[in-house]
Amino acid sequence: MAKHKLIYQIYPSAVGDLRDIADKIPLIAAKLQPDYIWISPFFKSPWIDGGYDVSDYCKIEQRFGNMRDFHHLITVAKKYNIGILLDLVINHTSIEHSWFRKSELHDPWYKDYYVWLDKPLNWKSFFGGPAFDYSALRGKYYLHLYDRSQPDLNFNNPRVIKEFKDIIAFWKKQGVAGFRVDSANILAESNLKKGLIPGLPGFFSYYQNNKTISVLEKLLANKGMFMLAEPVGGEFFSKRKFHELTEKAFDASFNVGTLDVADSFFSTKDRIYPVNYRRWFKKLAKWAPEPAFSMAIESHDAPRAPSRFDVNPRVLAMLQFLLPSYNPCIYQGQELGTLNADLSTNIEDYRGVQSRQVYVRLRREGKTKQQAMAVVRRISRDNARVPIDWGEYILQDKRDDSVLNFYSKIIALWRNDRVIRDGSLKVVKIKKSGVFEFYRILDKKQYFVHLDFSGKSTSYLKDDKGELVLLSK
Ligand code: GLC
Repeated sequence: MAKHKLIYQIYPSAVGDLRDIADKIPLIAAKLQPDYIWISPFFKSPWIDGGYDVSDYCKIEQRFGNMRDFHHLITVAKKYNIGILLDLVINHTSIEHSWFRKSELHDPWYKDYYVWLDKPLNWKSFFGGPAFDYSALRGKYYLHLYDRSQPDLNFNNPRVIKEFKDIIAFWKKQGVAGFRVDSANILAESNLKKGLIPGLPGFFSYYQNNKTISVLEKLLANKGMFMLAEPVGGEFFSKRKFHELTEKAFDASFNVGTLDVADSFFSTKDRIYPVNYRRWFKKLAKWAPEPAFSMAIESHDAPRAPSRFDVNPRVLAMLQFLLPSYNPCIYQGQELGTLNADLSTNIEDYRGVQSRQVYVRLRREGKTKQQAMAVVRRISRDNARVPIDWGEYILQDKRDDSVLNFYSKIIALWRNDRVIRDGSLKVVKIKKSGVFEFYRILDKKQYFVHLDFSGKSTSYLKDDKGELVLLSK
């Protein structure tokens, strides 16, 4: 099991990104020294779900570069001791994938690559609306837990498992160090029946079934690569299932639920709730000490955290790195304290399927255009899906008191200080107002951390002599 690996996530969104990432590695390495860079999908895709709808797993989307650029990136990363992780979107393909096209046409080899039923079930998709759609070509209904353009693969079919074995082997040969596995806990449907609807009790226990775990074990175990799980619906995840998943197939589990417990609930991302600090901090205190837990404050699936929680980005960094934090994940630009993008007030300008569906739902409920757009602009994933501002990076690099240099400092502490690395956690206080106080303890040493999300007091870390080690200023 991997311990103390720092992961840095990049979401490709601009022309020439593969070359650009390679060019920026020296700077990222100097400031943060990540062990891995996880790059979100840059494979061939119609881009209906921002690349998470792959139409060819072994081809690079032209605008990002080509295989030569990718090899160059791997070489530069190696020079800096960084492994490249790819995103394996495995639960579903794009509707444009040749497997689906052939499956629709009854091709004997491909006909069971997807989940086809004669009659649809009453399941709802994570993006809203029914989870089954009719294919006139096939004369049956196919399952899509996400958008209708993302048909679910059938992992009860050994041919599908073999396809992904080959895809993993292909990329391993190109020099990748591992994978982040998308929607990892919901792969294999073992029980296609009525009534198990996303969002209702029983759903997640149903999905995190033994079939999924055994598929993952077959695919990922003993590959000598770093495997990072993305379980869907993190906040519902039981410890038992977490251990099963991580022990059998993964080194760590990247948990988006750590964000959602604060101010939203799974499958209701079209609502804005006041931040529930108690709920959030309690969950973190429970999960952070797990060695395979990967804590994230941001990702490509969430708005920017300093905007979302209206807080000094340094306090967020302290939450992420001063709690026990074995495999933390930094999302591009987080280390600059980047705020939400200034998104359009016109829904037509949004490409992301999530933003559009939230808008439609809100309008259907009777919200005005302005009201619906106010919500979309705040919660849209597009807020974080913009290229890094490298000019800002260079400016912050030069300023001692910048957020970037705060991240450098706190990461050095996380790497080198034994109490912060390995100390146990003792919670002192969790307050509704956003105050979180705890000790980190190792042998006879004891550090005290005071975090204040309300902004009423400065957050700090004091060592056992009462000396200030870190201050959120
Ligand atoms: C994962 C991705 C998200 C995507 C979804 C469907 O949760 O992180 O961006 O929309 O899977 O592939």
